[in-house]
Amino acid sequence: MRTITSAEKRTNLICLTVAIGGLLFGFDTAVISGAVVLIKTQYLLDTTREGWLVSSGLVGCIAGVLVTGVLSDRIGRKRTILLSALAFFISGIGCGFAGGFAGLVTARIVGGVGVGMASVISPMLIAEFSPADRRGRMIAYYQLAITVGILLAYCSDAFFVATVAREAWRPMFVAMVVPSGLFLLLLIKIPESPRWLVARGQNEKALGILNKLRPEDAAAKEFSEVLDAAARDKGRMSLSAVRLPLLIGILLAVFQQFSGINAIIYYGPSIFEAAGIGGSNALVFQVIIGVINMLFTIIAIRWSDKYGRKFLLTTGLSGIILSLLLCGVLFYTGHTGGIFLLVLLLLYIACFAFSLGPVTWIIINEIFPTPVRVRAVAVCTMALWIAVWLVGQFFPWMLATWGAAVTFWLFAGFSLVNFVFSWRVVKETRGKTLEEMEEVFVSPH
Ligand code: BGC
Repeated sequence: MRTITSAEKRTNLICLTVAIGGLLFGFDTAVISGAVVLIKTQYLLDTTREGWLVSSGLVGCIAGVLVTGVLSDRIGRKRTILLSALAFFISGIGCGFAGGFAGLVTARIVGGVGVGMASVISPMLIAEFSPADRRGRMIAYYQLAITVGILLAYCSDAFFVATVAREAWRPMFVAMVVPSGLFLLLLIKIPESPRWLVARGQNEKALGILNKLRPEDAAAKEFSEVLDAAARDKGRMSLSAVRLPLLIGILLAVFQQFSGINAIIYYGPSIFEAAGIGGSNALVFQVIIGVINMLFTIIAIRWSDKYGRKFLLTTGLSGIILSLLLCGVLFYTGHTGGIFLLVLLLLYIACFAFSLGPVTWIIINEIFPTPVRVRAVAVCTMALWIAVWLVGQFFPWMLATWGAAVTFWLFAGFSLVNFVFSWRVVKETRGKTLEEMEEVFVSPH
């Protein structure tokens, strides 16, 4: 086995620290699923206020994405990610100790800002810190962290429901203080992104950091590539220079959500109810889905740099399309009672976990040149969150109006379009440095 150098260890540690942003993203978005029923009963919420409680996080999220697009170029990547950690911390306390419904919604919005910020800055920083040949694996760790966060939230929600007699939703939110506090503390130690420093003219500092994170010759080579690219781009670049990668990023983000992933992750119990296998089993299935989601992400960690992004995308999408089509058939023919539905949903989750989940984030964060990276990533991430909102808003309606079969087939249809798009239009990015990517993607000015 190859020994890991101390420079590699330092880079890994930075990337893993930054990936905790993904864990908080997953935790914050999933924690509400267990809390909402309890809050609804306590505050006698009508459907409008219930909807507002759930969607308030998303409102904050959109704001967080916008803020990050502007802030991280101005104040730096490190300060921006620290602010996202602070937002999670404040939200955990704010929700847990909220005096009433308005306070709770406000604190949920703050948590949403944290999610929005983390969803832009964490994978982007990982892309900027990773060496080209391990970038896919490193960003896949971010996706792994999201899945761990979702699973932790399911488990901690279940734990507090079982052990706390009154207002169990409060500790559910307060629990977020632990990972966000840890995140804050660990972030203090990470350096600023060398690429941001070069864009700011702080070349010596950038080289000093690269020297600690790469073997000597690799550091010098990477530094000169970053310098060349900065000289070529001369500071600011307009988004119109990156039309093709922007199209790829936006479509991949939207298609990731239109595969129906969050419908299955968050509305799992309603699907099982529609299949006639609700009740306490539904929660157990939900946890099984969470575990499979986490375990299969490891395939992407191992394979995204070895076999490439396109291979994972197209293989995973084939499994996704097949399982969605067959789920639709089960609902259409009424054969939903047996083990088949669960098996197909697990196949779907497993395929998502090693393909669409991580690879979407990998590609979005590696295809843009430094002068526009954060703005372009923010645009793609915003498209992703709008798609999350659309699916969340319309899925219950689709299930009630069109039925589960048509809904699954629709998700299959979108995934088929994504398959063709990923196969024909998306370019392979494995192993290329962020600077080489510019030559592939940027249109002549
Ligand atoms: C998606 C989330 C989803 C999660 C599930 C992420 O890549 O962006 O919307 O909830 O994967 O693991």
